[in-house]
Amino acid sequence: MSIAFDNEQQIFHLSTPKTSYIMKVFNKRYLAHVYWGKKIKTPDMDNACLNRFICFSPVTSDENGVNVPDFLCQEYATGCGTDYRIPSISAVYEDGSRTVELWFESYEIKKGKYSLKGLPATYTEDDSEADTLVITLRDRLKNLKVELLYGVYNNLDVITRAVRVINSGDADVILEKVVSANVDFETADFDFLQLSGAWGRERHIERNPLRSGIQSIESRRGASSHQLNPFMVLADKKADEDYGNVYGFNLVYSGNFTAGAEVDQIFKTRVWMGINDYDFSWKLEKGQEFTAPEVVMVHSSEGLGEMSRTYHKLYRTRLVRGKYRDEVRPILANNWEATYFDFNEEKILGLAKEAADLGIELLVLDDGWFGKRNSDNCSLGDWYVNEEKLPGGITELARKVNEYGIKFGLWFEPEMVSPDSDLYRKHRDWCIHVPGRSRNECRFQLTLDLSRKDVCDYVVEAVSNILDSANISYVKWDMNRHMSELGSAMLPADRQKEMAHRYMLGLYDILERVVSSHPDVLFESCSGGGGRFDPGMLYYMPQTWTSDDTDAVERLKIQYGTSLAYPISTMGAHVSAVPNHQAGRVTSLKMRGDVAMSGNFGYELDLMNFTDEEKAEVKAQIAQYKELRTFIQSGDMYRLLSPFEGNNTAWMFISEDGNDVFAGYFRVLCQVNPGISRLKFKGLSEDSNYEVVGEDKKYSGDELMNIGLVVDLYGDYMSRTFRLKKVK
Ligand code: DGJ
Repeated sequence: MSIAFDNEQQIFHLSTPKTSYIMKVFNKRYLAHVYWGKKIKTPDMDNACLNRFICFSPVTSDENGVNVPDFLCQEYATGCGTDYRIPSISAVYEDGSRTVELWFESYEIKKGKYSLKGLPATYTEDDSEADTLVITLRDRLKNLKVELLYGVYNNLDVITRAVRVINSGDADVILEKVVSANVDFETADFDFLQLSGAWGRERHIERNPLRSGIQSIESRRGASSHQLNPFMVLADKKADEDYGNVYGFNLVYSGNFTAGAEVDQIFKTRVWMGINDYDFSWKLEKGQEFTAPEVVMVHSSEGLGEMSRTYHKLYRTRLVRGKYRDEVRPILANNWEATYFDFNEEKILGLAKEAADLGIELLVLDDGWFGKRNSDNCSLGDWYVNEEKLPGGITELARKVNEYGIKFGLWFEPEMVSPDSDLYRKHRDWCIHVPGRSRNECRFQLTLDLSRKDVCDYVVEAVSNILDSANISYVKWDMNRHMSELGSAMLPADRQKEMAHRYMLGLYDILERVVSSHPDVLFESCSGGGGRFDPGMLYYMPQTWTSDDTDAVERLKIQYGTSLAYPISTMGAHVSAVPNHQAGRVTSLKMRGDVAMSGNFGYELDLMNFTDEEKAEVKAQIAQYKELRTFIQSGDMYRLLSPFEGNNTAWMFISEDGNDVFAGYFRVLCQVNPGISRLKFKGLSEDSNYEVVGEDKKYSGDELMNIGLVVDLYGDYMSRTFRLKKVK
């Protein structure tokens, strides 16, 4: 059992292979946080769990002793005027009072991991893989019960948390804030790492020292967003890829979130993460419960690299589901950057034939196949085929593509409606809107109100009708705007602030229904590229289109940053045309191929424009990726050189058995008369020898890791890859 309760000392000790997480029931009432970090034996509590007076901070005292909530490290902070740091929960009771006083009541330890009704979460396949701790806190006056859920993995350094609030009182309660976790640290000697950006520039790593006050990230956009990912790390100031304590937090949720760190007056730090309380409230009627989504917490005492590999393994094996969790992902060609809206059946079949000749395994037809959509200004919601472009419909097109020996995939944007669509003309109240106010469009579209059951049913039916009408093996599920004028025609006035979260619950319900009834389809999520790259979406769809920016240089930062939390097998990465459509840059076909191979590989350009020489190079790339993908997609990743720190980027992948290695080294700009550049590998076995495939050379693991291999590159936008095999 990874969870123990010491009754005498009133201590919970959660342990994973290399970490400990310790809490104490303090003065019989308060749940205090004691420690999270490298594995230790249970410590002496007088030493480990401090409770001291601070001037101008209230004291609660009773027959059990004295408690200074503003000082004590809290496990789930209620504020209520005695702890002035940021609270995790706020509520308004029927009498207008707002004090939530949560006292420890009981606990339960169970084998296996909890699941969350209607919400995505990491899972186990066997109860022996994890244990669950449920700690019940109660506001005795109002009978509000708060269950803190902990999932503790036995073979991974992962602790997950979630919260259930149950109204056992006699009257309605309005929840104004329920975050999923807070973790208090005794110190503020940390850097705060976040993944920020914009459309086309997603998940760049930013690192800043903590300072007094609040540093936070959030989304108010109705999606996890391109701008700030629901992921943050606290890292020792000197921590790097291989060294130092780092603490990762990732929310398994795809909507509005809040996360951050507050450094208080005595330089302690409180981290929180959960649903954003901005424009949120939830009316909890008597007997009802509210569940806050899961936070996945990973501690590593061996730096960021180890933390990422833990997230990668967990997400690859116990977050994503379905047949493609354990299967290699197909190499695809997507017609978007090849044709945009300007295609017909002949053009698509031409691409399919060419794709098949090159060894590509799947042809994806992107936007523009339905309604009268020849540009982005109409037809979303009208999910029937445009027979002018595709006379035989999707059924015939898929059949003809299959005749070339490759699979067929299709694009949808089911959460949206165009004002110029039959759907909108019929159901003007099906979109998110506030009566009498402007309905502001973005990309000429409005967002469907997925807080409504009838709208969700329509979406499931519309998508399923198409999926069931043809041999479709892949779906790209896109979403191209953020929410505005939040309101639902179906919700009463006192529930309007529930809309954004109800949308997410509706979306998750749709995804569960569509995905589970089409188990053989590979789903890839997308939101203008990587605008909803989060663990919530990955639970339903095992891969995400990483970014609309396909420029090889730009992708170094995007893919490197994304890998801080998310595994390679979740990242779509395509070779596109030059000059690149987003950046205007001309990079070599080799570099474009090498960068895209560090993800789920594909092509997104007019395959018919290749010269014979390029065709031969592309065929070789495809053959190479087929050989490498088993371990690129499922092996361990080591980041070797950061694009955020210099001109050179490098990373490598190693198979689980350690026998196969692939490394990429990328140089953005040429330096004349440069110093010596070497690629120093990581994660190899010091005592083994490795053959450099294609070079008839062998080196020992210790040489490869400590001396490294020389990389000589000439010219801008260059790359060099190494394929190693362990030899006896
Ligand atoms: C945004 C996506 O990110 C693109 O790849 C493409 O599918 C377009 N939408 C289509 O409208």
